[in-house]
Amino acid sequence: MSTRFLERRATLVDLHPVAADMQRLVVEGLSRVPKQLPAWFLYDAEGSRLFEAICRQPEYRLTAIETALLRQEAAAIAAAMGPGVPIEFGAGSARKVSPLLEALAPPAYVALDISASHLAEACEALQSRHPALGVLGICCDYSQLQTLPAHPLLEGQRRLGFYPGSSLGNFDPPQARALLSQFARLLAPNGCLLIGIDQPRQVASLEAAYNDRAGFSAAFASNLLVRLNRDLNGSFDPGAFSYRARWQEPQGRIEMALVSQGRQRVAVAGQDWSFAAGEALITEYSYKYAPEAFTTLAAEAGWRAVGRWSDPDAHFSLHLLEPRP
Ligand SMILES: C[S@@+](CC[C@H](N)C(=O)[O-])C[C@H]1O[C@@H](n2cnc3c(N)ncnc32)[C@H](O)[C@@H]1O
Repeated sequence: MSTRFLERRATLVDLHPVAADMQRLVVEGLSRVPKQLPAWFLYDAEGSRLFEAICRQPEYRLTAIETALLRQEAAAIAAAMGPGVPIEFGAGSARKVSPLLEALAPPAYVALDISASHLAEACEALQSRHPALGVLGICCDYSQLQTLPAHPLLEGQRRLGFYPGSSLGNFDPPQARALLSQFARLLAPNGCLLIGIDQPRQVASLEAAYNDRAGFSAAFASNLLVRLNRDLNGSFDPGAFSYRARWQEPQGRIEMALVSQGRQRVAVAGQDWSFAAGEALITEYSYKYAPEAFTTLAAEAGWRAVGRWSDPDAHFSLHLLEPRP
């Protein structure tokens, strides 16, 4: 673990998986049928930049809807959450949290994200928007984080988890249950969790959200191969794969994949891998949950729903969870 003090006072702790762990995960993922890597591999510096561009596309309405909901309901949400230090899982640009910070006026804020340079920039920018706030960035895979590092900003503080962006949808339901249980442990003993969840709706609009006309979703997926080439000595030809995003009704999810355009062999993570023509490498899932389905899942992970705020079209909900007694 290394700690860095950024220019404007924010502190950054580096717990990013080391190269050997990344190599093991890629070997595991490419050995699966179908081939699939953890979604966080999509987020290097370029992946984070492309994700920000996706959020600005007209087809991807999630960011605009959730941001508006947070702005509109910040006071009510803050009152329901009560005092404490917000801890954001997968903070990205850390812009969505600002209305909550204004309403909560907490002493500190903690951002967790896998994308190191993007996290450092986000913490710096947030610190300049909120100069009085203590800001701690933790670069890590939050799905593997067993405890939060001891830090004065967290001492004696109630922990207010914030997990926006419907990122829980990247995990299949058993993994999502395990992640929610783990968040309960990280936020114990008396924390709460505010979580943004996207709901199932018209298939055409869901598929368009993950395959924007400007091509940012495709470029975001393709950048995974560039990243594997650079970080794990890969030999992928990104041009030999095409991007596909499709709704899978039985599972209630969007599956995003890179599909091999022909038979090919690729080296990465110290091994050779073959791809058949038409074979998919799944880059991420986005599971959608109706509010009742989500609260059932959360209950199985030890949480009870104590508040919900939705957009007028009922496409998206912010759920507030507290530990079940
Ligand atoms: C879908 S984006 C959401 C960003 C932002 N929270 C929002 O709502 O717009 C997911 C963010 O979580 C980060 N991320 C994805 N998987 C992660 C993991 N396992 N551990 C830590 N960060 C992760 C990515 O780097 C990215 O910033």
